[in-house]
Amino acid sequence: MELSLTGATLGYGRADPVLAEVSFEIQPGRLLAVTGPSGAGKTTLLSALAGLLAPRSGSVTVDGAPLAGRDQAVAAGIVLIPQDNGLAPILTAQENLQVVLIARGRIPAEARRDTAIALDKLGLSGQADQLVEELSGGQQQRTAIARGLALGGTVLLADEVTSELDAGNRQRVLELLRAEADRGAAVVLATHDPEAAAACDTEIRLSEGRAAELRNGRAAEMRDGRAAEGRAAEGRAAEGRAAAPGRDNGTSART
Ligand SMILES: Nc1ncnc2c1ncn2[C@@H]1O[C@H](COP(=O)(O)OP(=O)(O)OP(=O)(O)O)[C@@H](O)[C@H]1O
Ligand SMILES: [Mg+2]
Repeated sequence: MELSLTGATLGYGRADPVLAEVSFEIQPGRLLAVTGPSGAGKTTLLSALAGLLAPRSGSVTVDGAPLAGRDQAVAAGIVLIPQDNGLAPILTAQENLQVVLIARGRIPAEARRDTAIALDKLGLSGQADQLVEELSGGQQQRTAIARGLALGGTVLLADEVTSELDAGNRQRVLELLRAEADRGAAVVLATHDPEAAAACDTEIRLSEGRAAELRNGRAAEMRDGRAAEGRAAEGRAAEGRAAAPGRDNGTSART
């Protein structure tokens, strides 16, 4: 399954767009970091990829066809771990996983098994029966990650999932995200954390409405075809494809 943004302009209501003409491809088997200052549009970008926000212009496509909305995104296996966790506070940790797994069609016995496996991966077996509202912030964050992992998506959109974690748990989560990529998922991690970004294969930085692809700590702004060709000549980029020429005020990057 191929998920792409093509010349996508994203925004809310009548306000100026948050991001203008962003183009890139989400690749299976890879970890992509989306970075940028608070308010730069990381969550907005993930919302569009999750089918929650329709682009004003341009498109988000799944296998070349425009993504119609959240239902289609769910059907395509696009899993979002939201920045605010999105957990039901008056359910237990395990209930939060089970209801979602059952809603997605798993039989109860499978849902229980997969819930136990996912909570264990996040070190939460001891918290399975605790109400979410009684969990610490980091435990809640790990519960939301467990829920995302249990869904076993083709695309995993993880929004600031390490922000409340200690170093050990952050490392654990980064390893779990890598394992998701290794089983073939495309993983997108929105993060403020330079170390988390450094653990990803590719970084796209959002700033002032634009997206720029960073590799090996070096920025390569993808504003025109020449920039794409120049970057393609640089060793590691050989695995990517040449980007289509962008417009003057646009941005384009391949992951
Ligand atoms: N639902 C909404 N309605 C209107 N404006 C919004 C909405 N959500 C976000 N915005 C605006 O869009 C811009 C980008 O917000 P977004 O949440 O995407 O940033 P972010 O990069 O995820 O920030 P953070 O690092 O703080 O999570 C901000 O100016 C924000 O005020
Ligand atoms: Mg955000």
